[in-house]
Amino acid sequence: MQNSLVKPLGSRMARGAPRPAAVLLLLAGVVAVLMLNAAESRILLTLDDFGAVGDGIANDTKAFEDVWKAACAAGDNTILNVPAGKTYQIWPVTLSGPCSSEIKLFISGNIVAPESPDDWGSSDRRQWLHFYKVQELKVTGGGIIDGRGQQWWAQSSCKGKLHNHKNKRCTPQPAPKAVHFEDCHGISVKGITLQNSQQYHLTFTRCSNVEANYLRVTSPEDSPNTNGVHLVDSYNVHVKDNLISTGDDCVSIVGNCTDVRLRAISCGPGHGISIGTLGENNSVDYVEKIKVDTLFISNAENGVRVRTTKSGGGFARKVKFESIVMRNVTNPIIIDQERSDHLEDSSEAPAAARAVQVEKINYIDIRGTSASEHAVTFSCSDAAPCRRLSLTNLNLTRVDGHKASSYCRKAFGRSIGTVIPESCLSKEDFVQQVPGRSEEDDDDDSDS
Ligand SMILES: *[C@@H]1O[C@H](CO)[C@@H](O)[C@H](O)[C@H]1NC(C)=O
Ligand SMILES: *[C@@H]1O[C@H](CO)[C@@H](O)[C@H](O)[C@H]1NC(C)=O
Ligand SMILES: *[C@@H]1O[C@H](CO)[C@@H](O)[C@H](O)[C@H]1NC(C)=O
Ligand SMILES: *[C@@H]1O[C@H](CO)[C@@H](O)[C@H](O)[C@H]1NC(C)=O
Ligand SMILES: *[C@@H]1O[C@H](CO)[C@@H](O)[C@H](O)[C@H]1NC(C)=O
Repeated sequence: MQNSLVKPLGSRMARGAPRPAAVLLLLAGVVAVLMLNAAESRILLTLDDFGAVGDGIANDTKAFEDVWKAACAAGDNTILNVPAGKTYQIWPVTLSGPCSSEIKLFISGNIVAPESPDDWGSSDRRQWLHFYKVQELKVTGGGIIDGRGQQWWAQSSCKGKLHNHKNKRCTPQPAPKAVHFEDCHGISVKGITLQNSQQYHLTFTRCSNVEANYLRVTSPEDSPNTNGVHLVDSYNVHVKDNLISTGDDCVSIVGNCTDVRLRAISCGPGHGISIGTLGENNSVDYVEKIKVDTLFISNAENGVRVRTTKSGGGFARKVKFESIVMRNVTNPIIIDQERSDHLEDSSEAPAAARAVQVEKINYIDIRGTSASEHAVTFSCSDAAPCRRLSLTNLNLTRVDGHKASSYCRKAFGRSIGTVIPESCLSKEDFVQQVPGRSEEDDDDDSDS
């Protein structure tokens, strides 16, 4: 019998029909092994098992911390469920790793924050649900994470149009990042709703191998600093198939970020896709290999933007914006290197020694309507003019029927195909080599 188990079925058949009893026994054995496997390899935990009430009033923070600790310590394939049909009020909490195995956080119910900023007491006002040093976590389940940020927005000085005015920059009050992954690896967040965050909805800081797909991210148009997805110092990040409609950037990319892919995102209202602000506080930021395609951006302040301070260092390069439809967007295509920094404002003189180099930015197949005259704005710096910009097949018209135009300052590159409004890029030959940087790369762009 033992022998027949290891032999392929075919060899047994060849020797004649097997006895029915032996086949039954064999099948029973296989089924038993499968069932045993299934039972062994899944550990199901729910928030309610750890004493959560889920009435939206009780403090379910301890239950959440405890179930996380249990899940984190458990072996294979742990599934932590936030049950459907209930609302769990959670105070600011840090859920730390590394954990002993992969965790699936299956959020089917609602997780809500306390409504009042006072509830933060002495705890860190910069975050609410903070995942720290976690690896291999999948968040999914169709539920809702609601920051209930209304009171935070009301006390913010960055409300309304004021904070975009050049000379009146507000200093943002610290408000919590709703869901913040810090120093994480192998994170996927899929198929949930994030809404009304106190500040940024979903932030990844120093994370790698990240996916953020099939998300619905919403907050009111006038809610301050409520970026949808915010990436800081992260690499290998995919953000796809999302609806993002907030009061600030749809997706923002700052610090040292590489290999970021954004695809199939509906943005707006809000401030559109933003690379930067780079070079803030004189930082040196390296952003490269960013590919953005298949976007629908409507009623937003910007479409696709690259923004740097006047000082700072590093680069933004090898960026591709492709297949984008804009509707009623104030600045559909914009590079803005003229942003003044807090520090710089007081001592304007010695700037320009350094700058963030913006180069190899490709715009391909972008059409739709601009809410302002300048559908294309390339406002680059004296210290490091923008180089190797390229426009391929553009058709941006004004929403009010007037003619749109392009604005260029220190911007070099070329246009290919039909480009409306007409390109104002200067020819590349006039670009002077920027000292101190070697030109190592002419590889690439082939990362399609
Ligand atoms: C809610 O519970 C958490 C964790 O036990 C605690 O830190 C927090 O202070 C509690 N909040 C209130 C208002 O009791
Ligand atoms: C970005 O990378 C550069 C070079 O590796 C480094 O000097 C700088 O500190 C990094 N910035 C951050 C915020 O990690
Ligand atoms: C820049 O410095 C200010 C003041 O120290 C600080 O509040 C702010 O967070 C810094 N910004 C960045 C991007 O590091
Ligand atoms: C264009 O967008 C602005 C908000 O940015 C909105 O107030 C206005 O109604 C929109 N116009 C059209 C024609 O959709
Ligand atoms: C550009 O878009 C306008 C408005 O949608 C359209 O009427 C026009 O035919 C387009 N031009 C080209 C060259 O595609």
